[in-house]
Amino acid sequence: MKIVVTGGAGYIGSHTCVELLENGWEVVVVDNLANSSFEALKRVEEITGKKIEFYQTDIRDKSKLSEIFSAYTSNSETSENHQKCSIDAVIHFAGLKAVGESVALPLEYYSNNITGTLTLLEVMKQYGVKNLVFSSSATVYGDPHTLPIKENFPLSVTNPYGRTKLMIEEILKDLHVSDPSWNIALLRYFNPVGADSSGRIGEDPFGIPNNLIPYIAQVAVGRLSFLNIFGDDYNTPDGTGVRDFIHVSDLAAGHIKALPKLFTNPGVVVYNLGTGKGHSVMELVRSFEKASDRKIPFKIAQRRAGDIAACYADPSKAERELDWKAVRTIDDMCRDTWNWQKNNPNGFRKD
Ligand code: NAD
Ligand code: UD1
Repeated sequence: MKIVVTGGAGYIGSHTCVELLENGWEVVVVDNLANSSFEALKRVEEITGKKIEFYQTDIRDKSKLSEIFSAYTSNSETSENHQKCSIDAVIHFAGLKAVGESVALPLEYYSNNITGTLTLLEVMKQYGVKNLVFSSSATVYGDPHTLPIKENFPLSVTNPYGRTKLMIEEILKDLHVSDPSWNIALLRYFNPVGADSSGRIGEDPFGIPNNLIPYIAQVAVGRLSFLNIFGDDYNTPDGTGVRDFIHVSDLAAGHIKALPKLFTNPGVVVYNLGTGKGHSVMELVRSFEKASDRKIPFKIAQRRAGDIAACYADPSKAERELDWKAVRTIDDMCRDTWNWQKNNPNGFRKD
């Protein structure tokens, strides 16, 4: 069984490749390496002892994408349309993901995320590959009126990045209305953190990290001097923001569970991938200090524009329908992030 993974060299993609290979899937990665390194895929091969087929391609390049799908398509005398593509499904991670950058560079975000997805869908349609797992985000819930968040909550977004996710969800629903033979899982991730327990792959942001855990990890390793905590006056137990942090390996396992669901012809299905538990920024700092046995210097700073006080999932639908549940704790997440960061202080770059 063969899966095309767009954005497979990235943070979540590389961890999902590990799970796919360990569960017997053949993996074809399509990634332009705009925000990742080939080294990540080499290490996935090393962790699993299995091979990945890799194409360094931008998913907006329709002719290259068609060539890739064509390479897995055989002419068959027996099949109805005389063509059979051996790709069973696509897991679609490729895209840009930084909220602040999306405000400054909306055209890049719409082009990469929307045009990229449209091009991918056109090629999938051309080759009769109609099973798709799409990386959506809890950002599509905006500022929820109540917690925990269920899949049927109203959707709203406040920035171009979030808008691309919501637009793509809508595009995929329209596609299914037009042709019900498409099967599509919209996976709404909460806050992915952590790293593979091997310490060989992990999150490797270019430049100064925007997100909490990579920032803390770089403070712990000495690349940054202190953490700014954005607000301690929220209506939360300790005043700092609360999020549903989910270990990236649990998240990756959710994709492996979504694939067989697609093969039951469910149409469009939506799942929250979170733990169902909220943890505060301050709790994360304390847990990271324990994991690293180092002090994390911090300053209380102003609230960050666009942040909400608290956000956590009701993940029970995924448990009921996919038999998937996150099992790792925040201590596991901090331990594995630290293991990755201390062994690779410069990420995948060798210096
Ligand atoms: P990432 O940046 O590490 O991975 C994305 C990968 O896509 C990178 O390897 C990048 O090189 C590649 N890519 C980008 N544009 C491309 C293009 N046009 N053609 C080919 N490849 C391209 O990000 P990630 O954290 O692994 O996120 C994966 C997906 O999950 C993204 O769609 C993101 O929006 C979504 N998501 C991430 C989070 C998170 O916190 N990390 C949360 C919710 C949703
Ligand atoms: C952010 C994005 C969201 C995206 C998600 C995953 C914003 C507003 N939202 O979510 O759309 O889906 O990343 O990529 O950017 N914090 C600090 N100091 C820091 C960094 C963060 O105190 O240096 C706090 C934040 O205020 C927040 C919490 O840590 O309360 C988590 O922040 P972050 O990791 O950036 O994730 P989100 O904002 O939840």
